[in-house]
Amino acid sequence: MAPKVLVSDKLSETAVQIFRDRGIDVDFMPELGKDKEKLLSIIDQYDGLAIRSATKATEKLIEAASNLKVIGRAGIGVDNVDIPAASRKGVIVMNTPFGNMITTAEHAIAMMFAVARQIPEASASTHAGKWEKSKFMGVELTGKTLGVIGAGNIGGIVCDRAVGLKMKVIAYDPFLSDDRAKKLGVTKVELDELLQRADFITLHVPKTEKTANILSREALAKTKKGVRIINCARGGLVDEEALAEALKSGHVAGAAFDVFAVEPATENVLFNLPNVVCTPHLGAATTEAQENVALQVAEQMSDYLLTGA
Ligand code: MLT
Repeated sequence: MAPKVLVSDKLSETAVQIFRDRGIDVDFMPELGKDKEKLLSIIDQYDGLAIRSATKATEKLIEAASNLKVIGRAGIGVDNVDIPAASRKGVIVMNTPFGNMITTAEHAIAMMFAVARQIPEASASTHAGKWEKSKFMGVELTGKTLGVIGAGNIGGIVCDRAVGLKMKVIAYDPFLSDDRAKKLGVTKVELDELLQRADFITLHVPKTEKTANILSREALAKTKKGVRIINCARGGLVDEEALAEALKSGHVAGAAFDVFAVEPATENVLFNLPNVVCTPHLGAATTEAQENVALQVAEQMSDYLLTGA
């Protein structure tokens, strides 16, 4: 009998086609991730579950999934999967670490420009017919120091683009080798040095016990006056309360956040502060990235379900 896969989030239909082409019996129910009870009641029929971020693969769901062999996350973060519960049941969890890295890095760069030139506020003002030409004085990126926290797949691309923009790039990443730093054209530094030197700081680390609150109140206090902070990685890496206070005091000149401690973020201490640019976790939201991650997750899951590889 053909293995059965449930797609319970809005995955590109490319994934569905790949599953079918590979001979997998696939049910495409992109709204199901939001309906926990329904999902719980049918999950035992499936060998594979393909998700993005809306479906929460909790311990309860995994326990109820008596036939489940693999959970595929079309994207990087597996924060919505209870990994210990999956391991206990022998369920493999796979992600697609490469499919959306360029898109996410580009979003971080776009956010850096947006906050440097106050583009969202200037756009809203122009749409309102105000023509406030002298109100929106920006800063150049050329020659500025960008501090990159985490120079892995996404952070590495950010470094490369920023070097191309003629920024001086310094990176804090305990896993960054001297050789790779050299290839990227960046200087490796300790976190304290990065905080003291950077005109812009961008985060590109997962949220783990070590990185949660990495930009704590104490860390923010060490930053240069006038710093601008970009977070397109994960909510909870920055102390939002402390950042809001630092923005109000003028110590931090701007922030651009795509991710928030609580998501979906319908309210947040950063909302409505001047020169804070916010987007609703759009880091991976391009046509190209969504095609890539859908294709990759479907291929990987099919390989595993059909050959165990
Ligand atoms: C990811 O982990 O791949 C990104 O944060 C995108 C997402 O969660 O949708």
